[in-house]
Amino acid sequence: MTYTKLIIEKKEKVCIVSINNPQALNALNSTVLEELDRAFSEIAADDGIAAVILTGAGKAFVAGADISQMSTMNAAQGKAFGEYGAAVFRKIELLDKPVIAAVNGYALGGGCELAMCCDIRIASAKAKFGQPEVGLGITPGFSGTQRLPRIVGPGKAKELIYTAGIIDAAEACRIGLVNKVTEPEALMDEAMEMAAKIASKAPIAVKYSKQAINKGMQTDMDTAISIEADLFGLCFSSEDQKEGMRAFLEKRAPDFKNK
Ligand code: COA
Repeated sequence: MTYTKLIIEKKEKVCIVSINNPQALNALNSTVLEELDRAFSEIAADDGIAAVILTGAGKAFVAGADISQMSTMNAAQGKAFGEYGAAVFRKIELLDKPVIAAVNGYALGGGCELAMCCDIRIASAKAKFGQPEVGLGITPGFSGTQRLPRIVGPGKAKELIYTAGIIDAAEACRIGLVNKVTEPEALMDEAMEMAAKIASKAPIAVKYSKQAINKGMQTDMDTAISIEADLFGLCFSSEDQKEGMRAFLEKRAPDFKNK
């Protein structure tokens, strides 16, 4: 499929999705959202992809939802725009393959929200994070009020959202918003290394681990433990479980087939 605002590359089992609208700092307008929607449907259907890296072209990851597009919206249009963005981000969050955000620069507003729907965030030392929406007269609209407190805790999330504060990568790492910070030129290599490591493991086990964490985090501990038990049990009906354990016992590397 063709994309005007995304560049999609495949390196072995890793798919790299770059948002490519650098003149607007990769701001999320309807076209970018619709292309992300389509791209993640394609990625979901592609058994050859085991992990995804999401990044931005140029100096920004994503500098937010498109302010010029939003500036003329009425309440119904604003709600619909927010719902669509939130649905696309939820699709990314629920993808049955891990998604790593390689945050190369500004991740503001919708950009911070996009990074947060990814499983893992690696940031360039040049990256900046924040939810500046209240400075524009709106709330975060692509689920930032929900994911930020779940990631950094409600106190820090409220401080960031109420003050529209912008933090650097080191502070984002300190509060747990990003997993690690790299030198800018090392960002994609670090992200690729992590993605390739994930892609070398049993895909079904990685998928079920993602489901167990995501579903379990949204429920009480007893339900969460039973979600894990179901998924742990299901692994034993996969060929890859047999192969992984046989390979260990035979002291060789496993050859996983995603079956
Ligand atoms: N929506 C639409 N356009 C945006 C944008 C956004 N969220 N963020 C940046 N742009 C555009 C700018 O309008 C500018 O366009 P122009 O060249 O036609 O004037 C271009 O991207 C470059 O941005 P500029 O502001 O000149 O770059 P900068 O390096 O001086 O500043 C930022 C970078 C990120 C600090 C600044 O662009 C900014 O504050 N952006 C908005 C961030 C925001 O509030 N996001 C939340 C939106 S809900």
